[in-house]
Amino acid sequence: MFYNKVYIKTWGCQMNEYDSLKIADLINEKIDCTIIKTADTANILILNTCSIREKAQEKLFHQLGRWKYLKQNNPEIIICVGGCVATQEGERIFYRAHYVDIIFGPQTLHRLPQMIYNVRTFKKKLIDISFPQIEKFNYFPIRKTNAISAFITIIEGCNKYCTYCIVPYTRGKEISRPYKDIILEIQQLTQQGVKEIHLLGQNVNAYKYIDKNNYICTFAKLLSMIAKINGIYRIRYTTSHPKDFSDDLINVYNKIPQLVNFIHLPVQSGSDKILSLMKRRYSINEYKHILEKIKNIRPHMQISSDFIVGFPGETTEDINKTITLILDMDIDMSYSFIYSSRPGTPASKMLDTIDMKEKKQRLYLIQYHINKQTKKFSAKMLNTIQTILVEGIAPQNNQYFFGRTENNRTVFFKSTKDCIGKIVNIKINHFYLYTLYGNLVSIHQNN
Ligand code: SAH
Ligand code: SF4
Ligand code: F3S
Repeated sequence: MFYNKVYIKTWGCQMNEYDSLKIADLINEKIDCTIIKTADTANILILNTCSIREKAQEKLFHQLGRWKYLKQNNPEIIICVGGCVATQEGERIFYRAHYVDIIFGPQTLHRLPQMIYNVRTFKKKLIDISFPQIEKFNYFPIRKTNAISAFITIIEGCNKYCTYCIVPYTRGKEISRPYKDIILEIQQLTQQGVKEIHLLGQNVNAYKYIDKNNYICTFAKLLSMIAKINGIYRIRYTTSHPKDFSDDLINVYNKIPQLVNFIHLPVQSGSDKILSLMKRRYSINEYKHILEKIKNIRPHMQISSDFIVGFPGETTEDINKTITLILDMDIDMSYSFIYSSRPGTPASKMLDTIDMKEKKQRLYLIQYHINKQTKKFSAKMLNTIQTILVEGIAPQNNQYFFGRTENNRTVFFKSTKDCIGKIVNIKINHFYLYTLYGNLVSIHQNN
């Protein structure tokens, strides 16, 4: 009989982090074990991988190489590889790393406890990277948490097939979870003290669930349902797609005060020519029009975005258009990346003539302008009073507490423990790029 010590390492997006939380819950429920924080003494090692950009495979085999030595010392160790690289590479992982025992995909992670049992019992390697119809959510045990803010995946996969992106191939087709299940999971979280819900999906605003009475629950309708749950102070969501940013969704900003004044709405490029090559399905004018409509309702709304630089065919004129967009539309924070060719995607067959030095310069230029914007907005917050949802004690100094502003900046301030989970007013007296410091002014009455 084994006593299991399980170590889970996670790379990639918030959906992968959510999946890893669920893997931990499932394993805890089904296997006699402790989840530990380092790999050294573990006898079950789980790697939840991401393949969004290059070197994903190299990174995986590098990590597995380290775990191989642990297994040489203890042959009872079970090594499991999951996530998007597992789907992308499949059995090839066994060929290159024969000491791996289990390969599972993002949609089959609920089968992992049984797979671990089978590997132990039958001493045979197992692979399951199929895409069963969104069944994994039915297997998740009730989540135990003491967090104030919690992620919840509401839609899996993606049907957009942007020409550069691996996600539709690794996560499968877009499937929305039944709204009743989502509401139930959120209720379970709020009963444990969660005050902020962060809805997740690769394309979260494409959410659409049709129930057996033919009732169509859209993302806008789902937000209205969630807002009615007792104890929800704030609602966030990522990642939304401009094509699915309907007028219905824009209009809920009139009705739901818990929706924060911050939207992550990736545009990827400021050039229509590049957007078309990327198959993003909107023009820059359409993107701008969405932002204008949102800001008509919420003048203080702040927008963050993702950008890809050095996409095949991108010229300096295109990159200048991206910079113009960042400045014109007052884009606040952003994630920007150099284009990375992904196996099997249409863009990987496009002629890529831009050299790496030029790509790096373009990335530097974009990040320079974005950082200037971020700093500008952080500076504007100096001496203002900001509403913060307090999430906990600062990791480095237990006299300080932290929470986030609506526009996603972390704020540190002195207070006492009873402020955790409450909405407080903080006067900002110091700022860095993404981090602010301030003094507690008041605690909201309706907490
Ligand atoms: N569904 C979201 C993005 C999900 S992927 C959307 O459509 O906006 C997260 C980010 O990774 C993307 O916004 C993009 O900027 C980046 N990304 C995806 N594929 C990439 C690639 N092949 N090379 C570089 N960056 C990429
Ligand atoms: Fe990838 Fe495009 Fe889908 Fe986003 S919308 S996950 S970039 S295919
Ligand atoms: Fe990465 Fe897969 Fe998420 S490729 S970004 S882990 S959906």
